[in-house]
Amino acid sequence: MGIQIIGAGMYVPETIVSNEDFAKIVDTSDEWITTRTGIKTRHIADGELAYQMGAKAALRALEDANMAVEQVDMVLVTTVTADCLTPSLACMIANEIGIEDAICMDINAACAGYVFALDIAKKYLDSGDLQTVLIVSAEMLTRMIDYTDRSTCVLFGDGAAATIVKKSDSLYASCIKSSPKGAMKIYTKLPEPKHPFQTKTYRWNDEDVAKAPIGMIQMAGNDVYKFATTAMPQAVELAAQKANISLDEIDLIIPHQANVRIINTAIKKLKLPPEKFYINIEEFGNISSACIPLGLAQLKAAGRLKQGDKICLVGFGAGLTYGAVIFEY
Ligand code: UT7
Repeated sequence: MGIQIIGAGMYVPETIVSNEDFAKIVDTSDEWITTRTGIKTRHIADGELAYQMGAKAALRALEDANMAVEQVDMVLVTTVTADCLTPSLACMIANEIGIEDAICMDINAACAGYVFALDIAKKYLDSGDLQTVLIVSAEMLTRMIDYTDRSTCVLFGDGAAATIVKKSDSLYASCIKSSPKGAMKIYTKLPEPKHPFQTKTYRWNDEDVAKAPIGMIQMAGNDVYKFATTAMPQAVELAAQKANISLDEIDLIIPHQANVRIINTAIKKLKLPPEKFYINIEEFGNISSACIPLGLAQLKAAGRLKQGDKICLVGFGAGLTYGAVIFEY
């Protein structure tokens, strides 16, 4: 059994920040950011929260599917930048759009979150227990960016995208993986507990982590880059093997948009025509788990997804997580 995406929607905030805008606040240039990452602009939230962006994307996906909120059986939200530690962003988004009775939960697989969520949705749908899953990827990276750190602040943007997933009889295969030895290659730390019964100091095993600022994304960019250029092509190859198709049979690949050079390396390694890869990093930058569904929503709205197309979604992110899904549209 496979999946079908019967609706998709996206929402990005109005405020756009250009590379030139960053050159005014840190020691960087449009030339460096463009050539090293492929990013020109990113949309950033200004006065709106992740659940509000997610709700807008979700309503657009429901409208696209011509569906009522009552028909949603499960809300899966992918995020690393939720508004609250608890409740889940899924419960907050469901409440915002008027869903009263659905299984709601968040999935934190960082930038690979949508691929993980789609695979989880598929497995629930296979069980026959439910018919319709709403996946919302809502991210507000500006929440955890250090705007004095030029090596990270220029990379990320905010936004949300949503898809409505049902089961189908068509082709589906996935390769979902993690490489936890890279757990601290990208991280954002919470404060250590402070309580009235405390007698000891909380100590991280790693001195660098201990010294890192609270709430700000830390990234070993070069290590993640190397990991991604191996993990992305490997995940696509493994998913294609499981689908029992050759790489040439894939019609479209939507990769996670972290760095255009990572995508170009994957294109070379997989020996596929660049036209098969969807790239929108220039406008949006890296919106973590929202990148891939945002691409799906854009392509669906433009009528570029054709019935029978074999689509591959491939992501990687903090964890380190990575994975690919291949399905027939
Ligand atoms: O979504 C998943 C999470 N993230 C990623 O996948 C990111 C993966 N990594 C990358 O995309 C790249 O490693 C970066 C874009 C983060 C960095 O690009 P790079 O080509 O690997 O640069 P680098 O870190 O090796 O730095 C080269 C130089 C350094 O200066 P020195 O030491 O050579 O003098 C940096 O300080 O570039 C400098 N630099 C900058 N210069 C101007 C770093 N950031 C900037 C900047 N503007 N914004």
